[in-house]
Amino acid sequence: MKSIKIFAPATVANLSCGFDVLGCCLDTIGDEMVISLTEKPGIKITKIDGADLPLETHKNVAGVAIEALLAAYGKDIGITIEIYKKIKAGSGIGSSAASSAGAVWAVNHLLGTPYTPQELVKFAMEGEKLASGNAHADNVAPALLGGFTLVRSYDPLDIIKLHSPTDLVMTVIHPQIEVKTSDSRSVIKHKITLKKAIHQWGNVGGLIAGLYKEDYDLIGRSLEDVIIEPLRSILIPEFDTVKAVATEQGALGSGISGSGPSIFALNRGLETANNVADAIHEVYRKTGLDFDIHISRINNKGIKIIEEI
Ligand code: HSE
Repeated sequence: MKSIKIFAPATVANLSCGFDVLGCCLDTIGDEMVISLTEKPGIKITKIDGADLPLETHKNVAGVAIEALLAAYGKDIGITIEIYKKIKAGSGIGSSAASSAGAVWAVNHLLGTPYTPQELVKFAMEGEKLASGNAHADNVAPALLGGFTLVRSYDPLDIIKLHSPTDLVMTVIHPQIEVKTSDSRSVIKHKITLKKAIHQWGNVGGLIAGLYKEDYDLIGRSLEDVIIEPLRSILIPEFDTVKAVATEQGALGSGISGSGPSIFALNRGLETANNVADAIHEVYRKTGLDFDIHISRINNKGIKIIEEI
């Protein structure tokens, strides 16, 4: 029996302007998983700690993601999965993505890496499809590739890893209310005006140019969402106040993390990230809601091995 224990990171999808196409990987929050190859064929989830999630393979995002990988691999393999959830479901920082991406990454590693991280994205997307009804790749791609990623195209799938300036630090607040991705996708309009599209794709290009030029002002100017944020932000308590105090404290920009309710602020340097965290803490303390705040540099590696057993 061969086993591996991994860290499966949280991720921030969309990054304001890039709905379903942009995302980045965090370092200080993530799940742990232990995946083992066994002699007896079949996929078995033997333990889930920290969340009330189904143990049945076909109902669990990690299970269906591995099923997709094995269907392509074409061999009857025996696999057991233990999941130690630290990322809460419905938090907006890629909880289902961490499980899906972590599962396929670990199995791929145990099989001697027959697939590239880019190829693993399509298997992990099956987990996202089960979780939200939509196979979006903007959380699983940064979890698998690390850093910032772009889904250039869904059909055919074309995933690009982007440059990540080392000075960037995320502050993320997670208000402890659950917003299901499927619900927050249902408030989105499916048609937009050309004017808004022009505004938005200017920002997508600006953000990517800003990352490559390490132009922090350009990164900040581009963190703007004229399409999704106005519709979704009403689901998030104190959204506008959090954005305002983040800007006051020097954040480059801020917005909804994935489908919410988490809010991210991207900062230059740890000191600003800490100041932003303190200011957001003060805003949320007054609401009486429970919340977590995470501060993290961008994790340029993605999933990490904790132990090979
Ligand atoms: N792009 C997805 C959405 C991310 O916004 O619905 C979900 O985390």
